[in-house]
Amino acid sequence: MISDNVVLVMGKGGVGKTTVSIVLSLILSSLGNTLLYSLDPAKHLIKYLGICNAMEYCRVSKTLTAYQLDISKAVSTAVDHYVSLIRDLTPSLSVLNIEDVLNVIKYSPGVEEEVFMKELKKLYDLREYKYVVIDTPPTGVTLRTLIMPKMYRVWLDKLIEVRERILSLRYTIARTLGKEFKVRDPALEKLYELRAEYSSLWDELRGEKTSYVLVANPEVMPLLEVVDVIKFLEKELGVKPKLLVMNKFEDTLETSELLKEFNSLPYDKLLIPKVGKPPSTLDDMVELSRTIDKDYIMKLFKS
Ligand SMILES: Nc1ncnc2c1ncn2[C@@H]1O[C@H](COP(=O)(O)OP(=O)(O)OP(=O)(O)O)[C@@H](O)[C@H]1O
Ligand SMILES: [Mg+2]
Repeated sequence: MISDNVVLVMGKGGVGKTTVSIVLSLILSSLGNTLLYSLDPAKHLIKYLGICNAMEYCRVSKTLTAYQLDISKAVSTAVDHYVSLIRDLTPSLSVLNIEDVLNVIKYSPGVEEEVFMKELKKLYDLREYKYVVIDTPPTGVTLRTLIMPKMYRVWLDKLIEVRERILSLRYTIARTLGKEFKVRDPALEKLYELRAEYSSLWDELRGEKTSYVLVANPEVMPLLEVVDVIKFLEKELGVKPKLLVMNKFEDTLETSELLKEFNSLPYDKLLIPKVGKPPSTLDDMVELSRTIDKDYIMKLFKS
């Protein structure tokens, strides 16, 4: 079985993405093996759960496993990988100082998104979980990550075209000179492989298996951000959110207008109350999950 359901929890900084991811995972783990995977650069997941270190799979319960990515470590690993790839595929580049190449990659804009995208790809291919709940990084990074496979596909189409043209020219030259021509081209093969990978991720992100959970608070900016993310999802990915969460809700005069606006959004919704003590331990999270209609959540994510 490949992961049945990949749930991406998104929202503005501080709205409670990590908290909601934990609470949802606690509920979904009663339906089947669940992985709670945090891409949050602040690494709050391990702080809240109080167990294990970053970059380690750890058991929260019989059916719930948690994992906290360490983004700086993941970036270093990715950079090493790209450097060795460049070395293998284009040995001619080794005349350049490889350290310079490494630094260019490390500080290139988009490298975090690239790492997050790779992580997503990996999560879709996991076989042992019924649910994978992803606590995402800040919205800007997440949206750029979600659009990346599409962008890469366009670039790869172009690169493939260029590479094919180069090879055909080489072939013509070799034939003219009566020389032997090596048909296999590892660089072109790698480009084909990457294109297939990004295409399948792009399909996954827009497919039935993926659910988008958007978290807001009863405040103007977080709610506006949710509205913006809905527009992005609909326009760029052609998908709708599965669930909108209003977290830290307090019934006051000021919040009633915002609640009305929230309620007017035509998607499934969940209200989580603001609790007196900010949840910061696993016990607090279990306690918070008691305020939620579990059957409603289970039904929503079963279908
Ligand atoms: N329902 C709630 N009632 C009261 N406090 C809450 C509630 N949900 C979350 N909090 C508190 O709000 C703070 C932010 O929560 P959390 O870390 O889950 O947000 P986040 O969106 O993941 O933040 P970041 O953007 O930094 O990753 C924490 O102190 C948390 O305990
Ligand atoms: Mg967080």
